[in-house]
Amino acid sequence: EETDKGPYPYYMLKEVDEQPNVMRKLASIYTEETGKDNLDPEMIDAIKNADRIHIVGAGTSYHAGLVGKKMFEKLTHIPTEVHVASEFAYDDPLLTKNPFFIFLSQSGETADSREVLVNVNARGFKSLTITNVANSTLSREANYTLLLHAGPEISVASTKAYTAQIAVEAILAKSVGVAKEQVIAEDFDVRQQLGLAATGMQAIIDEKDEIEKLAKEYFVNATRAFYIGRGIDQTVSLEAALKLKEISYVQAEGFASGELKHGTIALIEEGTPVVGIITQVKTAGLTRSNLQETLSRGANILTIVRSGLSKEDDTIVVPDIDEMITPLLSVIPAQLLAYYTSLNKGLDVDRPRNLAKSVTVE
Ligand code: G6P
Repeated sequence: EETDKGPYPYYMLKEVDEQPNVMRKLASIYTEETGKDNLDPEMIDAIKNADRIHIVGAGTSYHAGLVGKKMFEKLTHIPTEVHVASEFAYDDPLLTKNPFFIFLSQSGETADSREVLVNVNARGFKSLTITNVANSTLSREANYTLLLHAGPEISVASTKAYTAQIAVEAILAKSVGVAKEQVIAEDFDVRQQLGLAATGMQAIIDEKDEIEKLAKEYFVNATRAFYIGRGIDQTVSLEAALKLKEISYVQAEGFASGELKHGTIALIEEGTPVVGIITQVKTAGLTRSNLQETLSRGANILTIVRSGLSKEDDTIVVPDIDEMITPLLSVIPAQLLAYYTSLNKGLDVDRPRNLAKSVTVE
């Protein structure tokens, strides 16, 4: 039974563990061995002809949208904006002639996102909802739907929905890019990459005891913590910090590593944990120097590094994968660090205080 916790103490750990299978499932549902995809050609056409893509989401889904922007711009060359739903709903945005809207929502019921969709429909723009729940409100009210096929997500802290959203965005961006005859999209073998992501996730999950040790040593007694990175790693730092905050109540910030020195570094004290996420060739050296800056102010520094960029003293090394979809791997240690911090603080991992799984009020 999918909604049974089985041998797991909490749903969150079960859902973290399910991620490799979700990757394999999405690859087999949405792509063919020949490299073709199974997406609705009419939908691909609508996105291909758009002059702007707008991605809308809340919480973790918003963070998955930030990763999506990078992929859409790289693979389709269509300018892409990402919006926090509750802000965008009451903005007065300057829209282009032919925008296309993508709604990301695990539940498909988030009121903030729905408010945007109501406006989008009133103005006659086309939209797609990427959701885990068939026939949910956001799915019914958008022109198109892509399902996440992640199985029910019960834990309030979202894990498999985030990685499933990124995988679906990657499949979609590739497909639109190919329709636009972008060479970079033709060369991006998303089916193979999702296979590598699945294997890579499993390798990290198999080392979870080591991650629990790190949680105990660095986070359980911390009052605040930082995740830092640049570019796509910065977007993962936001999700990594959110996981830690919501279930372990450690005040955590995700930050652009280069921006830290312009003020926020004042918060670093003796023993403050700072985790550097390092997966991109272009910025690896820079993030490493920013970590050193925090080390010399007393921080305990840790790293989550892609194998090809790793050095002797790195803390957690994740397998190599295309740089565009490294969040599928770099987020896993962060999910587990949050999980074990919460668990070892004796908190209710699946039901953190003050939070709801699906927020149906604005
Ligand atoms: C709530 C949940 C978050 C989630 C957000 C958006 O705040 O606690 O985990 O990311 O809603 O939910 P959605 O279902 O739209 O992805």
